[in-house]
Amino acid sequence: MARRKLVAGNWKMNGDLAALAELEGIAAAAVAAPGVDVAIAVPATLIAPAAARVPGFTIGAEDVHPADKGAHTGCISVPMIREAGASFSIVGHSERRADCGETDADVRAKAEALLRHGMHAILCVGETLAERDAGQAQAVVTGQLRASFPDGAASGWLSIAYEPVWAIGTGRTPTVEDVAAIHGAIRATLVDLLGDDAQAMRVLYGGSVTAENAASLLGAGDVDGALVGGASLTAAKFVPIIDAGA
Ligand code: G3P
Repeated sequence: MARRKLVAGNWKMNGDLAALAELEGIAAAAVAAPGVDVAIAVPATLIAPAAARVPGFTIGAEDVHPADKGAHTGCISVPMIREAGASFSIVGHSERRADCGETDADVRAKAEALLRHGMHAILCVGETLAERDAGQAQAVVTGQLRASFPDGAASGWLSIAYEPVWAIGTGRTPTVEDVAAIHGAIRATLVDLLGDDAQAMRVLYGGSVTAENAASLLGAGDVDGALVGGASLTAAKFVPIIDAGA
């Protein structure tokens, strides 16, 4: 099934008001590539100024708290990111699972909060190098997906991002065959969870995507887009990836 590709950036803990100038070139490239959806997740401090800088371009958050409000010091709710101008959030990024001890249950609650508010969730799953070397990559990824999968999921509001932890920020990527195999296992799990709607759900690849490897990775089986970290920080590096998805 041909699915419209999504090329999303994740700025992580990078960027300042001056860096928002990069969004102008990225937003222009998105307009010039009508066949692909483009989005950027920015630090919470930049959501409102980013949305103001590039009206009509899709801006998102990198995390949300599942509660709408309350005694959660330092956290940010779905209504807050929406008021700031976000239309989606990443949830379950491996860096948060590792740094913040986020569990599959935490990720599921975050995704359900986004869906409850009519916002899009990009749900991340991925194995460590030790798990891959032990031949457990598929089991780990599909297990994370099942345990993190939100009630009420639908293809128009949820995308999955497969991000092998050992490929994030390392310059290393799986082979195209390995990517296709894991994405195929994710798709089979989605069919089991969702039935027919699973065929419309987008499964993104993330982990050292660059202008040089984007075409081959985006052309792999069951790959419906990319979630890009370092190469999304500048238009010069991100626009070629958008073009590869167009
Ligand atoms: O969420 C995307 C990120 O984890 C990938 O990072 O720098 O390897 O593209 P990077």
